[in-house]
Amino acid sequence: MPAEEDYRDHTTTEFTRYSTEMLAAETVAHVLYTLPKMPWEFQFDAARHLYDEVRHCLMGFEWMRTHRLNPFASPQYLHVYRWRSQFPPVMQYCLLTMENGVNAFPYRHGRVDAHQRAGDALSEQFVRYDIADETQHVRFGKRWLPELLKHVGEKRPLEKYVKDVLKVWESEYRTGKLTVNVE
Ligand SMILES: [Fe+2]
Repeated sequence: MPAEEDYRDHTTTEFTRYSTEMLAAETVAHVLYTLPKMPWEFQFDAARHLYDEVRHCLMGFEWMRTHRLNPFASPQYLHVYRWRSQFPPVMQYCLLTMENGVNAFPYRHGRVDAHQRAGDALSEQFVRYDIADETQHVRFGKRWLPELLKHVGEKRPLEKYVKDVLKVWESEYRTGKLTVNVE
C-alpha cells in the first residue's frame, strides 16, 4: 500500500480496497446460512450488515469510475475470503465485527482528516459513511457474540474468546501470512 504521504496513490488503493468488500458481505451471508436457528433479530441485524458491505463495495466501484478507473480490472481478495472461511462461522463473525471494526477506526479517522485537508469532499463523505456503518457493526458484534457463543456451545468466556480470535488476526491477517489449512 502506498504511504499516506502519497495522498493520490494511497487514496486510490484505499478505494480499490473498498471495491473488494463483497468478500465481507459473503462472510456475513456464510454466517447467516450456517447458523439458521438464531433468533429473527440476529438475522435482521446480519442482513443489514450484509447490505452495508455490498454498499461499501459499490462505493469503491463508484469512486473508481468517478476517477476513470475500471473496477473490474482489480481482483477481489479471494485469498482473504478463503482464509476467513476456513474458521467456524462464529469466529468469522467475530473477525468481521471485532477486528476490522475496532482496529480500523484510528486509520479511518485519519483518512477523514486527510481528505478534508485535500478538499476531497467525495472521499471524505464515503469514509464517514463507512465509519458510521462499522460503528453499527461493532454494536452488532457486541450484541450477538455472547448469544452466538451460547448457541454453538463455546466454553470460553466472551473476553477470552475474542482475545484468542484477535491473536489469529494479529499474527495472520495483519502480517499478511495467511495460513489456509483446508481445501
Ligand atoms: Fe465494510
